[in-house]
Amino acid sequence: MTDPVRRLTPVVRIAPAKLNLTLAMGGRRPDGFHALHSVMVPLALADRLSLAVAGGPRDSLHVDGNPDLPVEGNFVLGAIELARAAVAVVRRVPVERATDAAPILAARLEKRIPVAAGLAGGSSDAAAALDGAFEAWGAEVAAGARRLLAAQLGSDVPFFLARGPALVEGRGERVTPLPPPRGNQPAVLLVTPARPVSTADVFAAFAAGVRPASGGASRAASEHLASELGRLSAQDLVARAGVLASANDLIPATLAVYPALVGFRRAVMRTLGRPVGQSGSGPTCWVIYPSIDDAEGAAADLRRAVDEGRVPPVAARAPFIHATRLAEEPERSEP
Ligand code: C5P
Repeated sequence: MTDPVRRLTPVVRIAPAKLNLTLAMGGRRPDGFHALHSVMVPLALADRLSLAVAGGPRDSLHVDGNPDLPVEGNFVLGAIELARAAVAVVRRVPVERATDAAPILAARLEKRIPVAAGLAGGSSDAAAALDGAFEAWGAEVAAGARRLLAAQLGSDVPFFLARGPALVEGRGERVTPLPPPRGNQPAVLLVTPARPVSTADVFAAFAAGVRPASGGASRAASEHLASELGRLSAQDLVARAGVLASANDLIPATLAVYPALVGFRRAVMRTLGRPVGQSGSGPTCWVIYPSIDDAEGAAADLRRAVDEGRVPPVAARAPFIHATRLAEEPERSEP
């Protein structure tokens, strides 16, 4: 039943960015998607979504923080719509009267995660909206059904229901929670050129044969990391950074579609003297550090290099350079 007190209070959800520590690509599936093997971790860098039951004819979304973000077609509204349809079915309400069971919502999104950057910000917002809408409506929806709905919203969405590090397989729908690294969580420096990347274009280049020469190396690194993540300290991850940074099979495809990123990545590597990885289909580059202080220091060095013209510009705007860390003590939703 709907809790009237809860309905008067906005529901707030933190929607973290994700990082692919590894991304090994398998073959193309009959549905056109690629099979993946990826160790994914949530980051402290996060959007914040609040949902309130509201009057009015339709759900609304107000976005703060990133004026470039397109509001129409945003994943939040799509997720609310899908959640409402599911609640109507569960509560046996005809579709045309779905808002009786699942009233109109006003959503407010504080956007911190760069868009189309390989950090799955939109997917995380969608997972937060799905979960938050059920909460706002006091609807109990089984974990299995939530996972199916999340998978319908996008390949990266199911990961966020796990609320912690996970091995992600299939097209993204098979999510196996992993223990977080032990002790203090490692820091990461994120470097995102202001050049949105089309995931579909990068996957298409990969499908057309733009792949790493070292066939199978990413898969081996990914399996190894999945088996030992919980035993590794931040320092151990730093020591493995070279292997992890090259364990993303999409890097050659991203660089083929966006050649300006070749010089950009090289300049970041030269400036920081550390292995530089890529999250998802890019363009976000990541560098692992043992502590947030180290990552902040690296951020300052890199900003200086950008200001002094030692990093070739990829877009008119400066890159997003941000020190963050793996999300602390992730809170698991369900086993
Ligand atoms: O599921 P999502 O909308 O995030 O996927 C975006 C695009 O990325 C798909 O249209 C597909 O081209 C590609 N993709 C893929 N295999 C995956 C995930 C995404 O080919 N596992």
